[in-house]
Amino acid sequence: MEEKQDGLKPRHVDMGERGIYHTDNRLNDLTGKEWVYATRSVINKSYPPSFQFQLRSQHGGQKPPELCADLIRTFTKAGERVLDPFMGVGGTLIGATISDRSAVGVEVNPRWVEIYREVCRLEGLTEQEAICGDSRAVLPTFPDEAFDLVLTDVPYWNMDRRRRSTGKFKRAGGPAVERRRSKLSPFAPGETETGVTGLAEKEEWLETMRAVFAQAMRVLRRRRYLVVFIGDMYHSGRYHMLSAQLAELLEGLGLVLKANLIWYDVSKSLHVYGYRYEFIPSMVHQNILVLRKP
Ligand SMILES: C[S@@+](CC[C@H](N)C(=O)[O-])C[C@H]1O[C@@H](n2cnc3c(N)ncnc32)[C@H](O)[C@@H]1O
Repeated sequence: MEEKQDGLKPRHVDMGERGIYHTDNRLNDLTGKEWVYATRSVINKSYPPSFQFQLRSQHGGQKPPELCADLIRTFTKAGERVLDPFMGVGGTLIGATISDRSAVGVEVNPRWVEIYREVCRLEGLTEQEAICGDSRAVLPTFPDEAFDLVLTDVPYWNMDRRRRSTGKFKRAGGPAVERRRSKLSPFAPGETETGVTGLAEKEEWLETMRAVFAQAMRVLRRRRYLVVFIGDMYHSGRYHMLSAQLAELLEGLGLVLKANLIWYDVSKSLHVYGYRYEFIPSMVHQNILVLRKP
């Protein structure tokens, strides 16, 4: 037991209501009290629309910047550097700005980079470095161990061919209504507005993931984390546990799986697929894989 100084143990800093910060904390700036909340395996906090949500939702796969900021605060200290090799309209980059970190994002579709820049302009946010290009070509130009965290959200296998059903859907507690026209963006490189090109096959998807994450791992500092959003998918009559497949692929690259956080996305609609005949899940969660570089 260490001796108390002014009521505090050595290397302990009283942060008031936030709790006690330990100066030996090598991972983040959280107090013990905050650490306990940050490590819970289910995230059920709601993130209401913000940061030009309507503009960002042209993308369809955008993540709440505040959720990204929460993850960035858990896995880095202020001033550290974050990489997002699939930045979309910049959930990670905005999250880095509002948590006082710096970030680099790479996005193959110029339209999403433009929207990110427009959001920064409208919100008066400091722009992070957003590179328009294919991560498979861009990441090899970065030096080894240049980043303290990789936080990303992968494009989906087959998403470019999949379209949301035109059937009925309902919000929790509300009446069933006819589905509007699909808002899902095609995520694949080489995509078009009507979106039928790109990562059509699962094998090709896995190959792209392998190529990008091998580079992401190289540019990540040792003992630091790679955190990836990935939704499982019910498609063509069966459940695809893409999170498990991606976790296996990432472990194959030498990363160590530390957690599978479940983000309960309260904004998701409930579907009535399969009613009376078959159980089909109404997917209201996403997985957030947490891996560490040895
Ligand atoms: C799921 S979205 C990311 C959304 C992001 N989290 C946000 O908040 O906007 C994945 C993005 O990866 C991009 N992408 C796909 N393949 C890529 C590649 N090889 N290099 C760079 N970006 C790529 C897609 O265009 C898509 O915008």
